[in-house]
Amino acid sequence: MVDQFAIQYQSPLRVLVVEDNPVDLTVIKSMLTGTTDNYTFLKTASTIKTALEIIEEYPIDVVILDLNLPDSQGEKTLQTVHNRFNDLTIVVNTGAYEEELGLHTLSNGAQDFLVKGRYTAYTLNKVLHFAIKRKKLETELTRTVQQVKDAQEQLLQAEKMNVVGILASGIAHEVRNPLATILYGITYLHENIRVEDKNYHHVLKNIKEATKRANDIISDLLDFSKFKKLQLDETNIHHVIKKALSLIQYEIDKKTLQIVNDFQNSIPPIKIDQNRIEQVIVNLLLNAIHATEEGKISIRTYTRTLSNDLTEIPQISRKNFTPGQQALFCSIDDSGSGIPAEDIDQVFYPFFTSRRAKGGIGLGLYVARNIIDIHKGALILKNNEDKGAQAIVVLPYR
Ligand SMILES: Nc1ncnc2c1ncn2[C@@H]1O[C@H](COP(=O)(O)OP(=O)(O)OP(=O)(O)O)[C@@H](O)[C@H]1O
Ligand SMILES: [Mg+2]
Repeated sequence: MVDQFAIQYQSPLRVLVVEDNPVDLTVIKSMLTGTTDNYTFLKTASTIKTALEIIEEYPIDVVILDLNLPDSQGEKTLQTVHNRFNDLTIVVNTGAYEEELGLHTLSNGAQDFLVKGRYTAYTLNKVLHFAIKRKKLETELTRTVQQVKDAQEQLLQAEKMNVVGILASGIAHEVRNPLATILYGITYLHENIRVEDKNYHHVLKNIKEATKRANDIISDLLDFSKFKKLQLDETNIHHVIKKALSLIQYEIDKKTLQIVNDFQNSIPPIKIDQNRIEQVIVNLLLNAIHATEEGKISIRTYTRTLSNDLTEIPQISRKNFTPGQQALFCSIDDSGSGIPAEDIDQVFYPFFTSRRAKGGIGLGLYVARNIIDIHKGALILKNNEDKGAQAIVVLPYR
């Protein structure tokens, strides 16, 4: 069995001794080279400036740091090294009467301290090994705590979305019947009642359109419950993308847009519900088009083996994937307005839209994420570094 906390030393241990006193330096060097461990990778520095340069250049496991150097004194020396190289293991080497200072350094970034003249080669060796081990555990712990915090935050968001979703589909059920009655009534008035007022038909038409729009929203919401029953077929994703593009050609034609397809050759077929994934691609493409007045939209497909820690997948969707599995990526890149920082956490919420005045409902991404989730995939939306936004659909091969 592999002990996950066992120290995996690079052999030999890479030590940097920062010491300006030649006698102290000789003592430490002889102790290090005299132990059973092989400290052949040993660097030395007598100023903080050289020390920082060496740490920058070489992979150092542990630094034995004298605090009083020609160019830096006291705890500031520790601070400088620790602030710049947060993950580095530091063991402070204090003067003979500075035990209190040594203790103090422990809360400021040092893993341990040695008091000059009061340690042997044996203790020095032990101190260095345990310092590295402790530092590794500390780093791992800090990372894990951060991951737990992130996961909690995302769970909270997911739960909120879930509640809003349940509410929305409950309301949709309730509102659908009265809407049908209104639509039926308007059609009846339109066909059977003669009224001289010249605005009559115009008003009826407006009511009918508004009702239809309300009905479409409701249909979208109710449709969501149907997603659970997927019609899975082995599919070439490129056919789905081309179909989606043909469906929205009219929107593309309204603008000056260049659509670039960067498709991976001979992409393996994937088991998906074609209609649903087509709906996702349509929603994402429409968003890209709406955000881009003039410019380029690139659609790229590729397959990739996922990493063992799944860091390329947002935490919220990692449950859908197995480490190291094969996945299909489809990214839609636009050169449009991008998403304002204050909106980025809300874009997946139902009814969040920045395009209400232009007919946006705010269901496109909500529906898309649900479809992808039922496919056990991931949907990522982020801003590009230079311009515009990028949506990525990740679907696992099973
Ligand atoms: N590619 C993009 N670039 C910039 N903003 C985007 C992009 N995609 C989504 N957004 C933002 O996210 C919001 C929500 O998107 P979503 O698709 O859910 O709704 P919508 O497009 O506004 O309306 P609809 O329900 O018609 O799709 C958008 O209003 C927009 O502010
Ligand atoms: Mg949309």
